[in-house]
Amino acid sequence: MEIIAKHAIAEKHKAAVLALAVREGKLTAQGAAVDKAAGGHLAAVLKLGDLDAKAGSTVVLHKVGGVAAERVVLVSVGASDKDFRDAARAAVKAAAGTSGELALALADAAPAGRNVSWAVEELAAAVHDASYKYETTKSKKDDKPGLKKVTLIVGKGEDKAAEAAAAAGAAVGEAVNVGKDLGNLPPNFCTPSYLATQAKDIAKKFGMKVEVLERADIERLGMGSFVSVAKGSTEPMKLIVLKHEGGAKGAKPVVLVGKGITFDSGGISLKPGEGMDEMKYDMMGAGSVIATMHAVGRMKLPLNVIAVVPTCENMPAGNASKPGDVVTTMSGQTVEILNTDAEGRLILCDALTYAERFEPAAVVDVATLTGACVIALGHIATGLYANKDALAHELLAAGETAGDRAWHMPLWDEYQESLKSNFADMANIGGRPGGSVTAACFLSRYTKKYDWAHLDIAGTAWKSGAAKGATGRPVPMLTQFLRTRAAQAAGAAKPAAVKAAPAAKAAKPAAKAAVKPVAAKAVAKPAAKVAAKPAAKVVAKPAAKPAAKPAAKKK
Ligand code: BES
Ligand code: MN
Ligand code: ZN
Repeated sequence: MEIIAKHAIAEKHKAAVLALAVREGKLTAQGAAVDKAAGGHLAAVLKLGDLDAKAGSTVVLHKVGGVAAERVVLVSVGASDKDFRDAARAAVKAAAGTSGELALALADAAPAGRNVSWAVEELAAAVHDASYKYETTKSKKDDKPGLKKVTLIVGKGEDKAAEAAAAAGAAVGEAVNVGKDLGNLPPNFCTPSYLATQAKDIAKKFGMKVEVLERADIERLGMGSFVSVAKGSTEPMKLIVLKHEGGAKGAKPVVLVGKGITFDSGGISLKPGEGMDEMKYDMMGAGSVIATMHAVGRMKLPLNVIAVVPTCENMPAGNASKPGDVVTTMSGQTVEILNTDAEGRLILCDALTYAERFEPAAVVDVATLTGACVIALGHIATGLYANKDALAHELLAAGETAGDRAWHMPLWDEYQESLKSNFADMANIGGRPGGSVTAACFLSRYTKKYDWAHLDIAGTAWKSGAAKGATGRPVPMLTQFLRTRAAQAAGAAKPAAVKAAPAAKAAKPAAKAAVKPVAAKAVAKPAAKVAAKPAAKVVAKPAAKPAAKPAAKKK
């Protein structure tokens, strides 16, 4: 989808659909000008009261006199950031069935405190978000022509800033859709090997470095915990390392670590069958981290960023981990596996130890880690934990700006006690109370050497019910966090610049880093094709060789 931002006279702009904003029953300035050309027809329609005041409500009018566009969509915008985003998505959805161009004249309808750049960026992101369709594994594709082009109409003299904002928004929206595709792809397609291929594609597209470690490499690194999760599956495990070197040479990187369980059956501690299909999205930590790298690449972000993705399946098998097994992590600490379904922390702990070698400025891990987080925060906020408050505040602010919010959870020592084990340095579960907190406590034992935050996205990465599917969260939050870091790094690099603002404050919307405008192209479809018998391949394979030695090294 091509998205451009430019100044135009809305009523004279030829398009299939022109969207105008309505707040408290009145058209905003851009719409009022169109209404004048239409001889007051739009105001008269509003007077009839057909347009609901709720943000995102729409009315479609056809062939309005004095207006060049074929259709006019009136959309209620409301007062909050969320209202504006809802309105933007609704306008795109209202036009989705038509072919040709959609012109959005909504940039002047930003909520109080937000400027045109903010609005344009949100509009561009919303265009991608609202036009997302999953089709990869359907035999019949939608062959309707659909929207080809979206023009974001801005005021005179606003072109330049709007262009940059549109490029940034498109980069985020496109990345969100990359994430959704990864999460929606069935688990017989989206395997650890598939994630590795995706990372390689992104590396190639944006000139990044990529390394994929195989089981032998991973064993050599001493990742006994990660291997213990993967060994019950016949799908080969991978450790993916993707590097964007956009910052100053030698500048410490931000490391993003994503949980990549491409299917979580629970292992020997098998999950109940109902809804088990949804455990295909247990790789959305990895999916969102890889998708964020797509945004980073598209934006050519002036920052060093490294993605580390441990990925495997969690399956029951004769050679799978058993409750009671003790494994040795890369850090040397031993873990008693009391529940094989608490596998996310077992693969993350080794990836987090691995991250030490990059001498990171900060590490953020992202994981669909606990059902307990869904109970605590529902599907609205991501659970945020950190060993540094300043880092937590940066992420909170980034989420606020991007409309992809997190909530700061406690990581107090008192919670650590529940991880006690009689037979190892720690157990992998801490019981049902505070399950999301104790999972974070487990990870905190592997992140002492750097500033670290953990995002539990179990509730926010996926929607159940009729609109079942991946959300692409927390790509907007992560991207905003990295852009703010990049802006700070750029500020710090200029000797004459005023002292850099403290991290927590600098994460304000104003700090949105400008990016070079890049034409937003349609998201490349995943390479996977619907194989005739996808499952057969796996069934036919001989069972994986059991590990020669137990993973735990007894001293
Ligand atoms: N992948 C799950 C967590 C999850 C649950 C994500 C629901 C999304 C929706 C994770 O591996 C898991 O199974 N966690 C267990 C931990 C328990 C055994 C301590 C859980 O949350 O039940
Ligand atoms: Mn699990
Ligand atoms: Zn899991």
